[in-house]
Amino acid sequence: MKLKIAVLPGDGIGPEISEQGVNVMTAVCNKFGHEVSYTHAICGADAIDKVGDPFPEETFKICMEADAVLFSAVGDPKFDNNPAAKVRPEQGLLAMRKKLGLFANIRPIQTFDCLIHKSPLKDELVKGADFICIRELTGGMYFGEKKEGSDFAYDTNAYSREEVERILKEAYKYARQRRKHLTVVDKANVLASSRLWRKVAQEMALQYPDVTTDFMYVDNAAMRMIQEPTFFDVMVTENTFGDILTDEGSCITGSMGLLPSASTGEHTPVFEPIHGSWPQAKGLNIANPLAQILSVAMLFEYFNLKEEGKLIREAVDASLDANVRTPEIQVEGGAKYGTKEVGQWIVDYINKK
Ligand code: IPM
Ligand code: MN
Repeated sequence: MKLKIAVLPGDGIGPEISEQGVNVMTAVCNKFGHEVSYTHAICGADAIDKVGDPFPEETFKICMEADAVLFSAVGDPKFDNNPAAKVRPEQGLLAMRKKLGLFANIRPIQTFDCLIHKSPLKDELVKGADFICIRELTGGMYFGEKKEGSDFAYDTNAYSREEVERILKEAYKYARQRRKHLTVVDKANVLASSRLWRKVAQEMALQYPDVTTDFMYVDNAAMRMIQEPTFFDVMVTENTFGDILTDEGSCITGSMGLLPSASTGEHTPVFEPIHGSWPQAKGLNIANPLAQILSVAMLFEYFNLKEEGKLIREAVDASLDANVRTPEIQVEGGAKYGTKEVGQWIVDYINKK
């Protein structure tokens, strides 16, 4: 297969993990005889500094012409600490999602047996947890009408039936491929937008009698996720709730550095870690490249290249088993490997296979 990849390293640790993702991708393509080409493009704070726009037109064009985007992270403290900033790196990520029509963000939350002790939750609670959060990504408060005055501000949480239907359709697709259990997370006891979600979901559930559909308020879901994470199979929710719940989900796995995601929809799909740009770690070679590398596995799987994805997952498991780990997940007394070393170990593993 021919694969044209747009590479958007972004800010902070982005470029370091991006490099490892690309190396792994190349190794897998070589192994399986795929022809891959990369076009790098700027985004985030890097792009603001260079051209004054966090998602420049040229980057958009490169994304549109690619088969997939390998995205890393955006964000920089000089903007975080300045609420008055007119343009922010995160707007680049949001513009990318909106312009590419990426309404479905797939965030798998899994545990690695050898890392269970890294979760702040009890081992017996997290063992076997394996679910997917499907986060609606182009609607809700992130994109609704907003006003930002000095004494008064608001965001609007708006959803249309069409937006709800298309994300639920996606959620049912995943539920059917998995354990056929869908949990719709909302706040229908308070929010009008949530009542629309629930109404549409109740109607759609009738078309999927093979899937068990249940409903949960978001506050309750936040609790259930840490009380009994194995309850969930596929969870679907609106943009803001999904943002919050998936950070919580990373505590089940044990490190933010382990969670990949796929954003899909109308145009080129984007594969990215769920973590941010961790500016404090920039250039220190300590960031975990596994979330990015697992995003590459999701990329292959998206194109139905299952063996390729499987080999990456196998290599990642092997690296963890061999204790080739970045500091935040290393066992006590174990050697601490850098971003580059972990990436290289995985590349070597793939080459030797
Ligand atoms: C995420 C991030 C983004 C979001 C930020 C960086 C805008 O937290 O992908 O979860 O809120 O969607
Ligand atoms: Mn987030």
